[in-house]
Amino acid sequence: MVIQKICCIGAGYVGGPTCSVMALKCPDIEITVVDLSKDRIAQWNSNEKLPIFEPGLMEIVQQCRGRNLFFSTDIVSAIRKADLIFISVNTPTKTFGMGKGRAADLKYVEGAARMIAENAEGNKIVVEKSTVPVRAAESIMNILKANNKPNSSYQILSNPEFLAEGTAVQDLLHADRVLIGGEETAEGQEAVRQLSWVYEHWIPSSKVVTMNTWSSELSKLAANAFLAQRISSINSLSAVCEATGADVSEVARAVGLDTRIGPKFLQASVGFGGSCFQKDILNLVYICECLNLPHVAAYWQQVIDMNEYQKSRFAEKVVSSLFNTVTDKRIAVLGFAFKKNTGDTRESPAIYVSTHLLAEGAHLHIYDPKVEPHQIVDDLNSSTMDPDIVNRNVVIHSDAYSATKNTHALIVCTEWDEFVTLDYEKIYADMMKPAYIFDGRKILDHDFLQNLGFHVQTIGKKMHRDVARAWGCQNHQM
Ligand code: NAD
Ligand code: UGA
Repeated sequence: MVIQKICCIGAGYVGGPTCSVMALKCPDIEITVVDLSKDRIAQWNSNEKLPIFEPGLMEIVQQCRGRNLFFSTDIVSAIRKADLIFISVNTPTKTFGMGKGRAADLKYVEGAARMIAENAEGNKIVVEKSTVPVRAAESIMNILKANNKPNSSYQILSNPEFLAEGTAVQDLLHADRVLIGGEETAEGQEAVRQLSWVYEHWIPSSKVVTMNTWSSELSKLAANAFLAQRISSINSLSAVCEATGADVSEVARAVGLDTRIGPKFLQASVGFGGSCFQKDILNLVYICECLNLPHVAAYWQQVIDMNEYQKSRFAEKVVSSLFNTVTDKRIAVLGFAFKKNTGDTRESPAIYVSTHLLAEGAHLHIYDPKVEPHQIVDDLNSSTMDPDIVNRNVVIHSDAYSATKNTHALIVCTEWDEFVTLDYEKIYADMMKPAYIFDGRKILDHDFLQNLGFHVQTIGKKMHRDVARAWGCQNHQM
């Protein structure tokens, strides 16, 4: 079999970009991305705005759409004609029942598997691209086999995705590695070869790594756990820095220069967000508990606990610095996405910080360059559980200057480039005095801001206006 047609179930942050890049690099393969959501598919077919913001993605979609890339709600016919089917649906944390708050909810994966079982005929390679617990492929196989039609057969592969939002296109074009897990049978290995062939249209074969299915599934959870662990490690040290006068950026630099450690993912922050780190580590913790490995579970749980501590430490610092009360104070929140270059707010630390301040009676003025205003309102409504507070105390702005005007304090929650180059002299002039800046991303020039007159607080560094002045920072430029 040579793969000629691919179907991807799930047109989200993974399915959309992955299939767009695949279509760009594999003009000989027809790729149809399907979803239950009519709105999402309509947006993927729009020329104005895709359902997700990813730098460089619109250009690729426009190049391939209608040629060998299609977005559709006709899931049945896409499944029927495909040689290979990606399952790229969401796997959120369970919100009720057994494993609530920790286990991955596999209902969407199961739903996709059942659709395949009901509609597929002939030989199909089914590829688990969603992030799943170890041995999830077994459950998918059970569903497919239980519904097996006489003329159909399946091979299940694990092919986890490692792209990060905001850099998805580059991550897909120049992947560090492509991981494919399959059965060790002849048919399993043949399916692995088929999927490798697809990737080798643009990824060097040396970077296509194959292994057994369970190792592949676990490697995905492990990679996210390691990445998040580095952030929690540096964030834990940021608290030590604030208490001692050490500077966490200097510590991170010194540590990262060791080639065995490396410099990436050592940026201390208000805490990590995003749809996956927390859910995947919680899933790993749950798996460990189910396997009766409580010490391992407790070890990884600490990565999450440290992240919660970091977010709450930051929010409390805002309140304590503003004379222990923010009731009726106006506070600007710059950035609501969980990182720059995305409009995604899932688990964004900005939600935590904003909710904390709203509970303390603050009035928030929020600006993010890419997050839709209704998304901010929805996120705050579901986290405060009180739509009245959001109606009364939250204003969404379309630029940073109007958001900061007449406020008592400004908080940077996302590291958008445009926040670095704002005219802080103007912002200072328009703010209430004393004017406070809380830099949750360590992107601003703190000495310069202090010289303008701001009171500055950041992560992992003790800030004293007088100390900064004494060290002669007067003419520092941004
Ligand atoms: P998403 O929520 O953006 O998209 C999932 C899509 O699947 C939704 O549009 C939903 O409507 C659709 N869907 C659900 N069930 C369906 C069904 N039966 N038929 C058709 N469509 C269905 O999720 P995402 O961020 O793309 O993540 C997908 C998976 O990839 C998750 O397991 C996630 O952990 C993993 N992952 C995500 C990222 C990321 O950056 N977001 C990176 C790597 C891996
Ligand atoms: C992460 C991984 O990087 C991807 O490899 C993985 O595929 C993906 O999760 C997934 O499985 O969903 P993503 O969450 O999109 O990607 O973005 P990251 O760049 O990893 O950032 C996650 C969070 O950590 C952000 O809030 C970011 O601001 C924060 N972060 C990151 C830090 O606070 N410090 C750092 O040094 C790096």
